[in-house]
Amino acid sequence: MTTAMQAADFIALEDKHGAHNYHPLPVVLAKGEGVFVWDVAGKKYYDFLSAYSAVNQGHCHPKIVQALTAQAKTLTLTSRAFYNDILGRYEAYMTNYFGFDKILPMNTGAEAVETAIKLTRKWAYEKKGIPENEAQIIVCENNFHGRTTTVISFSNDPDARKNFGPYTPGFIKVAYNDIDALKAAFDNNANIAGFLVEPIQGEAGVFVPDDNYLSQAKALCEANDALFIADEVQTGIARTGRLLAVDHENIKPDVLILGKALSGGAYPVSAVLANDAIMMVIKPGQHGSTFGGNPMAAAVAMAALDVVKDEKLAENAQYLGELFRKEIAAFTASNKWVKEVRGKGLLNAILINDTEDSTTAWDICLKLRDNGLLAKPTHGNIIRFAPPLVINEAQLKDCIAIIKKTLEEF
Ligand SMILES: Cc1ncc(COP(=O)(O)O)c(C=O)c1O
Repeated sequence: MTTAMQAADFIALEDKHGAHNYHPLPVVLAKGEGVFVWDVAGKKYYDFLSAYSAVNQGHCHPKIVQALTAQAKTLTLTSRAFYNDILGRYEAYMTNYFGFDKILPMNTGAEAVETAIKLTRKWAYEKKGIPENEAQIIVCENNFHGRTTTVISFSNDPDARKNFGPYTPGFIKVAYNDIDALKAAFDNNANIAGFLVEPIQGEAGVFVPDDNYLSQAKALCEANDALFIADEVQTGIARTGRLLAVDHENIKPDVLILGKALSGGAYPVSAVLANDAIMMVIKPGQHGSTFGGNPMAAAVAMAALDVVKDEKLAENAQYLGELFRKEIAAFTASNKWVKEVRGKGLLNAILINDTEDSTTAWDICLKLRDNGLLAKPTHGNIIRFAPPLVINEAQLKDCIAIIKKTLEEF
């Protein structure tokens, strides 16, 4: 069997035995290290997606792998039926790292969003005094917060929603980056429990809101005794050039949602952070998960966050992100395929000059793959570029050259 056949075989296996809930780019990966991945034929690529920003620390970071394997040989899971000797240390580490009183550990991003919603509702009934079952949470149009039934209930993406009803009530949708719309939603409505927002809309196509949008939104929440809930599952952990994207506006969410790069991509780890006045509304038996806060997750997350600080990943993302946008913006002026480059830190996207339902962005991604760089369209004609944050300047310049060459030849 030839190597090319092997790649086709792996694809055929997934196609035959796996649910068709994804549409992967045809490349079969077998190995990763730092900013690079290799396919089954040994071809090397720059990873410019980082598993949707989960691999910020780079593939198979030795410190994270060391923490994972050492913990795997010692104690993997106790459940929360008993205490263990690492969860408390992890909770202290996390609350200190992000500056909150408490953490509620979960596993995936969507679960953490669900947790934040439950926490916000419970706080609304027990602290704010909203009548039972009447709490509402404001969300944004074109949001992406995950795939559970409640979360897709307030999506406006037809693929995410259609035929998955009936939907969970209790959400009001407003336009993103429109402070007047948010204000109008608060006006004359005493039942608003909170505002759930992505500081940059990642899946929707890397939409960066105007400066001060988030701080104005936070002020509106304060004025209306509602919680400001930041979903930093994609934007957090140094991705946008700060530890958190809300740090660009120096604001502190009431409820912070983290996932993805909390583990450096080695293990599913997510978390919700809040201060006591909010978090303590949850009592034993009211929320949880068998794996939430397990010893492996705790060990891996602490190592992953050590790496973020030790290797100054936020600073690197800030510096290289500016360089990337400057170079691509200059190139855009002379290239017919790119309309715009936008983003913050190393969460960026280019808008392809074609209709949303065209295959141009997909076809460009196939050519990028052939030229040794892996990226994927998000929403039709937008290509997201989000390399691991351990990328260095020489590597980034190499990637910019690949992107320019691909677009020139296209
Ligand atoms: C902002 C945001 N929230 C939540 C999620 C869901 O995370 P998960 O896929 O781990 O459930 C994602 C995933 O892309 C996300 O970008």
